[in-house]
Amino acid sequence: MKNILITGGAGFIGSHVVRLFVNSYPDYHIYNLDVLTYAGNLENLKDIEDKPNYTFIKADICDHEKMESIFSDYNIDGVIHLAAESHVDRSIKDPFSFAKTNVLGTLNLLQAAKTYWGGDFENKLFYHVSTDEVYGTLGESGFFTENTAYDPHSPYSASKASSDHFVRSFYDTYNLPVVISNCSNNYGSHQFPEKLIPLFINNICNNKPLPVYGKGENVRDWLFVNDHARAIDVIFHKGKIGETYNIGGFNEWKNIDLIKVIIKTVDKLLGRPEGASEELITFVTDRAGHDYRYAIDSSKLKNELGWEPSLQFEEGIEKTVKWYLENKAWVDNVTSGNYLKYYQDMYGE
Ligand code: NAD
Ligand code: DAU
Repeated sequence: MKNILITGGAGFIGSHVVRLFVNSYPDYHIYNLDVLTYAGNLENLKDIEDKPNYTFIKADICDHEKMESIFSDYNIDGVIHLAAESHVDRSIKDPFSFAKTNVLGTLNLLQAAKTYWGGDFENKLFYHVSTDEVYGTLGESGFFTENTAYDPHSPYSASKASSDHFVRSFYDTYNLPVVISNCSNNYGSHQFPEKLIPLFINNICNNKPLPVYGKGENVRDWLFVNDHARAIDVIFHKGKIGETYNIGGFNEWKNIDLIKVIIKTVDKLLGRPEGASEELITFVTDRAGHDYRYAIDSSKLKNELGWEPSLQFEEGIEKTVKWYLENKAWVDNVTSGNYLKYYQDMYGE
């Protein structure tokens, strides 16, 4: 495989995946396809934008004809599909845009790959990046495995579950070579400050309230984004066609405990007295349909493909907080919408 289409490469996880592939595989050409929604920011990839094996394509995965032409224009033989609407709270307010991008957009890409590859699937791969939220919620114990039945509860997870089913249906029906991974909550640099960790870091810095949903007792399994990118690399190159791989950190945190770690880390780095910002904690109405607990069993990925998380959580969270404190301009740009100017200045549109 040589020409790899990475969708959603200007977003949080996508930008880490694009950087890893551009730097690690000079023999590949990486095409980063992104429509640049509020969550897509080309500034995330400033350091690699001039590399000879990298091209940015501004396009919408919902544009069926465009997707068909991109496969032939660039002779695409591998796809890593990350483009999506990704925020649960937004999906509660506007489920339609989630169905459009996550379901129909994915279907467009599948159809375009099938048409262009025309049944010659030698050295071709369609890799679909999905979420553990498709499995629903756990009680106090147990883990999601690759065999856990789908049971999505939010419009976001329902749209991702639907896209996973379409991907599998293309494998079963047309033999399209596919692989799927379902990952737990990611954290790290370049995450849009609407998700828990970057939102709370930003609010602590600005002495703004920290809106904790419900009692803060929900549990998430956190994974450093670079470890997710490494897992995607391993699965793309060594994963078995037709298989699913769960990716997680074996790193569960109750929200309220995690929030206290974030507060402690930010206060320390800002030179505030320990725990000073705990007074910002504000319990608010719970998220509708809020899943109680996610926990991933990623032993298949470890045992079969040799992947493991590389970073301890304490180190990862400190790195993440430092990044946000040192990149205040990035946060200001993405929250004000100014980052769009970067694209306009570069591409003259
Ligand atoms: P993100 O919201 O940060 O980025 C999404 C990217 O997709 C953005 O660059 C956006 O511009 C682009 N995009 C959106 N709609 C598009 C369209 N119609 N056409 C082209 N591009 C479009 O999301 P993220 O957190 O980086 O998540 C990336 C993928 O990983 C998603 O598929 C998500 O479901 C999955 N995932 C995320 C997490 C997580 O914790 N963030 C965990 C597991 C899986
Ligand atoms: O599990 C993987 C998923 O993780 C990904 O598929 C999603 O794209 C990603 O957004 C993430 O979903 P969550 O809903 O778990 O992440 P979020 O950061 O929105 O919320 C984490 C937890 O924190 C959740 O229990 C809700 C809670 N929360 C969130 C926000 C934004 C709050 O208490 N207050 C908040 O303001």
